[in-house]
Amino acid sequence: MACLSLVGLEAKKAFIIVDTQECFLENGSLPVIASQIIPQLNEIRNQKDCLFDIVVKTQDYHPAGHISFGTSHGMAPDSPNAAMSNSWRGGMTMQCIKNGGSNEACCPQYYVNSSSITCNPPFEYCPPAGFYNNVTNPMLNGNPACTLCAESPDQCFGMAMDLWLDHCLQNGDSTLSPNVVSKNSDIIVQKGHRYIEMYSAFMDNTRNYMSDLDAVLKQNNVTEVYAAGIATTHCVRWTVQDAVFLGYKANIIMDASAGIWGTPTSYANESEAIIDFQRQGIGVINTADLLAMSCEADPQDTSSSSMNALGFLFAVLSLASLL
Ligand SMILES: *[C@@H]1O[C@H](CO)[C@@H](O)[C@H](O)[C@H]1NC(C)=O
Ligand SMILES: *[C@@H]1O[C@H](CO)[C@@H](O)[C@H](O)[C@H]1NC(C)=O
Ligand SMILES: *[C@@H]1O[C@H](CO)[C@@H](O)[C@H](O)[C@H]1NC(C)=O
Ligand SMILES: *[C@@H]1O[C@H](CO)[C@@H](O)[C@H](O)[C@H]1NC(C)=O
Ligand SMILES: *[C@@H]1O[C@H](CO)[C@@H](O)[C@H](O)[C@H]1NC(C)=O
Repeated sequence: MACLSLVGLEAKKAFIIVDTQECFLENGSLPVIASQIIPQLNEIRNQKDCLFDIVVKTQDYHPAGHISFGTSHGMAPDSPNAAMSNSWRGGMTMQCIKNGGSNEACCPQYYVNSSSITCNPPFEYCPPAGFYNNVTNPMLNGNPACTLCAESPDQCFGMAMDLWLDHCLQNGDSTLSPNVVSKNSDIIVQKGHRYIEMYSAFMDNTRNYMSDLDAVLKQNNVTEVYAAGIATTHCVRWTVQDAVFLGYKANIIMDASAGIWGTPTSYANESEAIIDFQRQGIGVINTADLLAMSCEADPQDTSSSSMNALGFLFAVLSLASLL
């Protein structure tokens, strides 16, 4: 029934399922009360995959000594408590390279120039004296920001970064949850660079390093994204914010997302999050809204087999670009 002249204008859509991994479920290394969203995600996949030209799954995939781990900055190792209230361990100011592109990196400002930092934990955490050894600490060793930002401060800028429990290690519990429907055509975006934090599926928190996702979506004429997963307050939030920044229409599926609420740098609750998302032009919907949408057959859409090949190439490219 689609009018032929409208076919080319029809918005192509992508579904981005963020970080539905063992590490972010209840028994994980950075646990979130999140298993309640799995039935919604699966309903969408089982009933409405036809809405989407591309389905993406993101995966936090950290090497040991990742810059976002409190332990990389001298905090004692800790395990999640029963109330799941100790995942966020503090914050620190980083110095990050301006326009670092695919070599983007950040270095603790305390390492670059300790006298420029006023320690004020947990918001401005400082390491124990002598902890930052640039040979033994993998977060500092070979980190280009640690040399550039000390030698040429004007080539770097300051940015606050959260510190977390060690989580989603490549050789740990970073596995995608087997309870969430997956298909061979799903595109996997891994987020694992040692010297940057990357909440979003599109780019790191400094918006310099880009995954291949934007290019793949644009090649496929995707103009609208729907995101859901873990956490509403962090990786889902940054993904939809970056989608808007990159010119997509973005939507967040609230009841298919789970948040880390009430930490000092997060949203207090869902109402606060919804107000902030809507203020930024992000559509806020629930699973029922998606299930009520109809899948119009697009006569031009013969892309599923070529997408498999593209998805495979993309997965290989993202692996190859990991440190
Ligand atoms: C967490 O682990 C416990 C003990 O093994 C198990 O009983 C429980 O079902 C697990 N919870 C989830 C959400 O996987
Ligand atoms: C380090 O920071 C202090 C305090 O902000 C400043 O006075 C000093 O010039 C900085 N040192 C270098 C080498 O940039
Ligand atoms: C460690 O820091 C020193 C002094 O800033 C520098 O000369 C050296 O190249 C650094 N080594 C590594 C492995 O980053
Ligand atoms: C994207 O749109 C362009 C221009 O309309 C078209 O030539 C191209 O085939 C489309 N690509 C896909 C993958 O649909
Ligand atoms: C949510 O958080 C905001 C901001 O702290 C607060 O004003 C509001 O009362 C909270 N709403 C609910 C439903 O708890």
